[in-house]
Amino acid sequence: QVAAASGHTVVLVDQSDEILKKSTKGIEESLKRVTKKKFADKPEAGAEFIEKTLKNLTTSTDAASVVHSTDLVIEAIVENLEVKNDLFKRLDKFAPEHTIFASNTSSLQVTTMANATTRQDRFGGLHFFNPVPMMKLVEVIKTPMTSQKTFESLVDFSKAVGKSPVSCKDTPGFIVNRLLVPYMMEAVRLFERGDASKEDIDVAMKLGAGYPMGPFELLDYVGLDTSKYIIDGWHSLEPNNPLFAPSPLLNKLVEEKKLGKKTGEGFYKYK
Ligand code: 3HC
Repeated sequence: QVAAASGHTVVLVDQSDEILKKSTKGIEESLKRVTKKKFADKPEAGAEFIEKTLKNLTTSTDAASVVHSTDLVIEAIVENLEVKNDLFKRLDKFAPEHTIFASNTSSLQVTTMANATTRQDRFGGLHFFNPVPMMKLVEVIKTPMTSQKTFESLVDFSKAVGKSPVSCKDTPGFIVNRLLVPYMMEAVRLFERGDASKEDIDVAMKLGAGYPMGPFELLDYVGLDTSKYIIDGWHSLEPNNPLFAPSPLLNKLVEEKKLGKKTGEGFYKYK
């Protein structure tokens, strides 16, 4: 959405037409929200902006068949290293020489993904934040093999889509998630111990620390499955680090398919 809105030609790829239809609908709704604010006094310019943006966006269920004409591939699939490596390995065969590959991973090693391809110097991390149309930050991740030219291209692209890039080495969680995920897990543990209600913890962090959402609201917003993938991955890397300890409550909710806002229930219920 943000790439299309800033004039880039985008092909959105997913597993089925049904998912793509849902994504396109989500983008249309989000664009309306952005437009309402951006073109408050100029509804005609707003309508033109939406039309132009949507024209820049097509969809496909076959990544290999569309990758031949791309300059940049941004992968944002399931947070599973094996699945990501398989995808990158396949796309590497079909993408042009100059094409840069970037992962939107929030917690996995970009270096390992780069090593699944033959373009380690043209590979980096581009980590966006939910909701992407609103959140200004992008973390640009440079692996030891990422070339300076590739890094600069990723920084330039981030700026071109209207974001503020920061850079970080390829370390677990980069900057934001390395601080945010342990904080959210500590909130779950506080609640699990019965020290405070989840509602009070959320109110406390909003009114006492100035956060726009409390940790439970944010966990539901990000997705409990995604949060579990992150913490489980780090726990397997550092089993003795108490900040990365799994939570029985989080595991139970994920097992029950209560994944947060997207499924209608997580820590809270949504209509
Ligand atoms: N698309 C377009 N606009 C959107 C939007 C979307 N998806 N979501 C919200 N907005 C807009 C609304 O239209 C509204 O615009 P307005 O100011 O003109 O009315 C504005 O944002 C504020 O929205 P709301 O009034 O509905 O609600 P809030 O004031 O609570 O703001 C929020 C919503 C921007 C999501 C804010 O609560 C927030 O910043 N929350 C924290 C988000 C956060 O921490 N994100 C990082 C998560 S971690 C992550 O993503 C990393 C990953 O790897 C796990």
